[in-house]
Amino acid sequence: MLAGCTPSDAGTRALTAQGSSAPSGSTSQPSSPGQPGATGQAIPGQPAPAPSIPSSTAPGETTSPTDATPTPDGDSSGAATPGQGDGTPSGNPSPSGTEEPPTTPQKPATQSPSAGKAQRAGKVNCAKTKCVALTFDDGPGPYTQRVLNDLTSANARATFFVVGTQVKAHPQLVKNSVAAGMEVGNHSWDHPNLERLSMAQVRREFSLVDEQIESLTGVRPTFVRPPEGALAKAQKQALGRPLAYWAVDTLDWKTRNTRTTIEAASKAKPGDIVLMHDIHGQTAAAVPQIIKNLQAKGYHLVTMSELIGAHPKNGIGYGWGKRP
Ligand code: NI
Repeated sequence: MLAGCTPSDAGTRALTAQGSSAPSGSTSQPSSPGQPGATGQAIPGQPAPAPSIPSSTAPGETTSPTDATPTPDGDSSGAATPGQGDGTPSGNPSPSGTEEPPTTPQKPATQSPSAGKAQRAGKVNCAKTKCVALTFDDGPGPYTQRVLNDLTSANARATFFVVGTQVKAHPQLVKNSVAAGMEVGNHSWDHPNLERLSMAQVRREFSLVDEQIESLTGVRPTFVRPPEGALAKAQKQALGRPLAYWAVDTLDWKTRNTRTTIEAASKAKPGDIVLMHDIHGQTAAAVPQIIKNLQAKGYHLVTMSELIGAHPKNGIGYGWGKRP
C-alpha cells in the first residue's frame, strides 16, 4: 500500500496549533489522524535523499532509499487509461520505490511560453467568489495526464504536489502540467517523514525538488506539502515556506474507491483545499465527476496560488483553518 497523505499524529498536532490562529473560524478538519501504513517511508537515520539531479552538489551520496518497498499501485480499474506521452511504463508509481541510478543529466531549463502562468494569482478572485483548490499528491505517474486532460477540458485548474523521484521518472508530465496552467507544488524528494530528519535534510528534500521543477519548467514551486503532513512547528518556522495542507481529506489512497472519492471531494466548502493522489486510477476516474459536482455548485476550481493569493505567508500551514 502506498502511503497516503493523512497526517501523522505529530502532523495533526502541528495543524491543531496552526489552526488556532485561523481567521475565519473554519471547523473543517482532517478527518483521520490515524497514521496509514508508512510503507516506503523514511526510517531514523536514513541518509539524505538521493542527489541524482544535475543541480546536486554531492554526487557521491547514496542514491536509493534503503527501505523502499516497491508496491504495485493495485489500480485494476479498467477505466484507467494512462494517456501520458512520455513513454513512462505503467506499474509501480510509488514515490519511494522507483529510484534509479543517476543517468544523463536532465536538460537545462526549457522555458515554456506558459511558464509562470500557473502560479500567478488573480485569474479568479477567491475573496469574492467561491473557490476550491483540488490538489493531487505523490505523482506524477501513469494517471497524471488523464487528470490533466479532464481538468483542462473542464476549464478547471489544480495543484500537483510532486515527489522528486517521480518527477525524475516522468519529467514531461511536469512540463505538461505547467503548460496546462496547473500549479506544481513541492512534496519532497522521496517522501520521507520529515520529522525524523535534521533541518539540513529537510531543506535538502525541498531544495532538490525546487531546482528540479525550475529546471524543467522555469517555475519555482511556491508551496511545499510535507509528506503525511508531518512537520514539527519548529521545522515549519525554520523552513520558512508557505505550507499547503488540506481541509478535505478524501482518503482516496485508502479507499481506492472512485465513488467515495467523488463523495468526499464534492463536500468541499468555499476556500477548501481538497487532498487527492493522482497516482491512483480510481482517483483519476473520479476527477470528471468531482469537477462537475463542484462547478454545478458554482465553484471555481483554482490553483493554490489563486486560492491563497499572491503573497502566502511563510511558515503558515494553509488548508485547515486558513482561508483566503
Ligand atoms: Ni504524499
